[in-house]
Formats: sequence, structure tokens, C-alpha cells
Amino acid sequence: MKKVRKAVFPVAGLGTRFLPATKASPKEMMPIVDKPLIQYAVEEAVAAGVTDMVFVTGRTKRAIEDHFDKAYELESELALRNKTEMLEFVRNLLPKNINCIYIRQPEALGLGHAILCARPVIGDEPFAVLLADDLLDGEPPVMKQMADVFDYYRCSVIGVLDVPLADTRSYGIVKSSSVAERLERIEAIVEKPKPEEAPSTLGVVGRYILTPRIFHHLENVTPGSGGEIQLTDGIASLLREEQVLAHRYQGTRYDCGSKLGYLQATVEFGRRHPEVGADFTNYLKHLDEA
Ligand code: G1P
Repeated sequence: MKKVRKAVFPVAGLGTRFLPATKASPKEMMPIVDKPLIQYAVEEAVAAGVTDMVFVTGRTKRAIEDHFDKAYELESELALRNKTEMLEFVRNLLPKNINCIYIRQPEALGLGHAILCARPVIGDEPFAVLLADDLLDGEPPVMKQMADVFDYYRCSVIGVLDVPLADTRSYGIVKSSSVAERLERIEAIVEKPKPEEAPSTLGVVGRYILTPRIFHHLENVTPGSGGEIQLTDGIASLLREEQVLAHRYQGTRYDCGSKLGYLQATVEFGRRHPEVGADFTNYLKHLDEA
């Protein structure tokens, strides 16, 4: 089986939790300090060896395409003003060998449906899925950790973390048994169970490596939680045929789909930022004293 060369970024969601900020622009373009969420996710995929980035987009998502395209007006303005460093920076957001491919999800029918929309571009190879509103800060980057697991075990791998029992309603939850350090074999997976029905408190984060067989299963699932075609239900079906592993990744997750997680990420990345980190840290310190 091949290496993971392609990644899918489902970015067609409405981002209702951040209205009005997301009324006319994509939630994936919201910045953590000075870099949009989608770029963090793409850089993580690049670090894992992915070269083909497949964005499944929807209405009001044009800014994502523009972000990864050549910006003629901006580049000529910067050149005119001799801002060479800045010019090189915007020209080289991504390495030269990276391809960006855009597919429209015509209707918001769920995450599983979004993945199915990418099928014509993915074809018959394993692929990664990254949900940009889960910002994962890990070293090595989390998708690279998962690609290493995939290279060894040659089966689907899903990123997981322990979540509070009261929060199972926000996650796909897995029932699993231990295989190795940080690695579990998934026995069952359910989307957003009530705490009293959850098989465990091991929750799925927005990182997946999937074998192409998932498409067959996604084609056959019926609408589940929230009336949507759920990726989780596709994986539950895939499990009957193939081994699927859960990887307890090393790193910190910021749930940037929520306001609190977004603010936490902003503070943490702000404190470490090469340009403003020291001043910002100082500012926070004085806030505490006030
Ligand atoms: C999606 C998945 C869910 C997963 C979560 C991680 O849900 O359906 O299984 O646990 O992402 O962020 P969403 O948060 O998009 O509702």
C-alpha cells in the first residue's frame, strides 16, 4: 500500500458558532495571531509528507482559494515598495511541490458526505483528513505521528484524546483495547453519544488517515447524528471489514471551533510569537498583577 500523499480538508461548514465573524468569510480563515487556521492544518499535512491538498469547499469559501493562490496585486505592490522580505514570504506560503485542489460540496449533508465528495480526486489510495478547527500543537506534528503509525501498521488510524465524561456529546467516541503504547485497536465507534451511553471517554479529534475502502462504506451509510451523513458511521461500518487503530497523539489540542478554545490558542501562540511574544507575555503578567 502506498504512502499518504493526499489530504482532505472539509471546509464547507457554516461556522455558526462564530457569527457574525463567519457570515461572509470562512471560519477556517480566522487567524491565530497572524496565520489562518487552515494554514496551520495544511502545514501539518506538509510535515507528514502530503503533497496534494484537497479542499472540499462551499459557498462563501472563496477566501481559502485566494489564500493559497498567487496574489498578483499584493505582490506587485510589495515589489514596487521594495518590500522584498515580505514579498518572498507571501510567495512562499507553501513549498513549490504542493498542489491545491478544490471541490465543491453542493449541499451541507455532513462530514461523511464531504469526504465522499473528494473521492474522484483521492481514487484508490490512503488519505488524510484534517479538520482545521482542531488546532493541534505537537512535535513531531500530529499528522506526521499518525503517518508513521500508518506506515508501520498499514491500516486506518484516527487521532484520539481523553475527554471529560460530560463532553461525550461533542465527539465521536471509541471503544478500544490497547495494542501498544499510545495505540488502541478500535472495537466500536459512535457519534456524539450521551454520557450515559458512551462506550468510553476516548474522543476522536479531527485527524484521520483512512484507507480508500471508506468510500464504499460512506456510500452506504444512512443519515445519523443531526440527520447528517457522518464520517463516524462510515468508520463504524469499515470496522467490520478492516482493522482501525486509534492513536493517542502527543501534543496539545485547541478546539478552535469554540470561542474559549480559540481564545486559548490565541493566547498560547501569541506568547510564543517571534515578533510580539515577549511584549505580550509581559502584558499578560501585568494583567495578573492588576
Ligand atoms: C466532528 C466529528 C466528530 C469528532 C469531531 C472532532 O464533529 O464528527 O466525530 O469527534 O469532529 O473535532 P464536529 O465537531 O464537526 O461536530
